[in-house]
Amino acid sequence: MTRVLSVAPECVPLIKTGGLADVAGALPAALAECGVAMRTLLPGYPAVLGGLADTRSERRWDDLFGGPARLLQGRAGDGVFYALDAPHLYDRPGGPYQDADGRDWPDNDIRFAALCRAATDIAADGAAGWRPQALHLHDWQAGLVPAYLRGAMPKGAPGTLMTIHNIAFAGATPADRLGVLDLPEAGFTSEGFEFYGRISTLKAGLVWADRISTVSPTYAAELMRPETGGGFDGVLRARAEDVSGILNGIDLEAWAPPFRSPRGKRRHKAALRAEFGLPQAPGPLCVVVSRLTHQKGIDLLVDALPALLGQGGQLIVLGSGEPALEAALRGAGDLYRNVAVRIGYDEALSRRLIAGGDAILVPSRFEPCGLTQLYGLRHATLPLVALTGGLADTVIAANDAALKIGVATGFTFAPGDRTALEQALSGMCATYRQPDLWARMQKNAMRHPVDWGASAGRYAALFAAIAHR
Ligand code: ADP
Ligand code: GLC
Repeated sequence: MTRVLSVAPECVPLIKTGGLADVAGALPAALAECGVAMRTLLPGYPAVLGGLADTRSERRWDDLFGGPARLLQGRAGDGVFYALDAPHLYDRPGGPYQDADGRDWPDNDIRFAALCRAATDIAADGAAGWRPQALHLHDWQAGLVPAYLRGAMPKGAPGTLMTIHNIAFAGATPADRLGVLDLPEAGFTSEGFEFYGRISTLKAGLVWADRISTVSPTYAAELMRPETGGGFDGVLRARAEDVSGILNGIDLEAWAPPFRSPRGKRRHKAALRAEFGLPQAPGPLCVVVSRLTHQKGIDLLVDALPALLGQGGQLIVLGSGEPALEAALRGAGDLYRNVAVRIGYDEALSRRLIAGGDAILVPSRFEPCGLTQLYGLRHATLPLVALTGGLADTVIAANDAALKIGVATGFTFAPGDRTALEQALSGMCATYRQPDLWARMQKNAMRHPVDWGASAGRYAALFAAIAHR
């Protein structure tokens, strides 16, 4: 077995704000079948410390970026976790990255530098006799690990794989934080972690990790282009040979549909309508489960709503995020009888929506992979998605050719284009009026592979290639 330490800022079942947590949480089990023994290092947020069982303390730091810290080892579900218990950094109310009002914690750079330092120390010394041969680094929060390893372990360091879940988050911090972050001045160049005059922790990872991956093949290609590379396209083109696009999967058991037949699914739909006070309607019941940010294109959907509602469609949205988007959605909920909006984060409700909806809408401007369309496929809830990133890799549009050979699973439109979204919504409603066709697409959707199988194998091969022996 190849021993791999996953360094993640969030991970189910302990702490989650988005898809990264699902991916970090599902990979250890999927990889165990491919010869990889993965453990996960997380910041010791209150939810993490409270959720771990059988914890024991494995090492201490007298001063880790401004305060004492301990490394705890524990279990949650089937997973083995290390938690960095550093109260001065993580023991606060609010979320992993932001306070309760949605403002980034001002010391986020050191909060995650500490996580990277802890990972480096585990790489160098092991923890309770367990020493990783490779490290899996998730997003900017883990980006400094390769930089620290260069200093701490010039020889014999474990291999590193940097995974980009979302290039929009660069982990940028002012140049004068160099000393505080314990980074070498020589690294502050365009070949190193300098990024438009600032330090980017993501760039440190992209420049120095042994391999780079991102969460879908299409997003990997998009990242190499200036329009969609978030400023990192040059760095990534220079490393093109080391970059892989590996599609996310979902845990099939964790996301098993709560019904066995179309009739069962219809009961879930009826229950949803009752829960949200929606009337019977001739069109599809659409659902959205999303962070509410510019990325997700929710504003486009609000503008395009008449195209759906005019054909008897309905919409239920569950999400939270930017106040302006929350307000726009609330406004639509007040205005239209066939729109219901729930602002908040609610895992149980998200599952009821995905089970009971006819269609799930993901109108993102960009989407590295996206998971809710995969849950949709699994539940015969047909996805309507923007043709971008992983959405383009996972949904097969209902065009004539795809319908003819029986592979169509959903509906697509050009990202960022309101008119195209309206057309896609109309096309979806027209398909819904042909129950046999809709049912055939539901079968196709449920057959479409969304498991981790093939992708876990690709990760395992990467870890085997970079593992230190
Ligand atoms: P991202 O990571 O960019 O937010 P993904 O589609 O990869 O997008 O993952 C989002 C994850 O978060 C999914 O598991 C989705 O079900 C969940 N999620 C998003 N918003 C909510 C919410 N308001 N309540 C419950 N779950 C949510
Ligand atoms: C990011 C992306 C999302 C992806 C998730 C898991 O949050 O925005 O598209 O599915 O990471 O990789």
